[in-house]
Amino acid sequence: MKFFADTAEVADIKELQDAGLLDGVTTNPSLISKSGRDFKEVVKEICGITSGPVSAEVVSMEHEQMMKEAEVLRKIADNVCIKVPLTIDGLKTCRKLRADGTMVNVTLCFSANQALLAAKAGASFISPFVGRLDDIGHSGMELIADIRLIYDNYDFATEILVASVRSPMHVLDAAKIGADVMTSPPSVIKQLAKHTLTDKGLESFAADWAKTGQSIL
Ligand code: E4P
Repeated sequence: MKFFADTAEVADIKELQDAGLLDGVTTNPSLISKSGRDFKEVVKEICGITSGPVSAEVVSMEHEQMMKEAEVLRKIADNVCIKVPLTIDGLKTCRKLRADGTMVNVTLCFSANQALLAAKAGASFISPFVGRLDDIGHSGMELIADIRLIYDNYDFATEILVASVRSPMHVLDAAKIGADVMTSPPSVIKQLAKHTLTDKGLESFAADWAKTGQSIL
């Protein structure tokens, strides 16, 4: 399973990259706004940190305008992945961009039928938002399982990119289902390494080692 960081905070991206925990990055207009940075500038900087896909989202609602924005964004770097919304115009844009080899992430997916449309449009990634579905009392993971089943039924190459991930449990459940990628805030990726028994074990090993009076170096 690939790990993407869902952030536009460069320091966090660098930290995960240095730890070998990063396969790509996803951004969205809200994350760009939160960073306070210039969109194109920050995408360029992120593309210099990871060689994996870096999703940059178009903001227009209409196909021709989306194509114009995508044209600007994909020139930033070879690993830019154009993010388009799951609308008819977004799907049309997806199909067109994929025809000339541009990576496309279709975002704001909340149903298996939407995911089916994205795969038929040749999307590189489909982004179902599990956290936002859970928030309204639906099951985000049920959606991931449904999409996995459908994509496998037809051998679609579109990768399932589990988005709106809020906790390590989301990561675990998505991995069990066989999702290809998950994108989460950096804090969730770092949380995956944590266990209270690991901390407790380290504490007691350190205490016992001190009793020996020895040193390795
Ligand atoms: C994915 O590409 C989105 O940027 C993101 O996962 C949305 O997450 P949120 O629901 O926590 O805003």
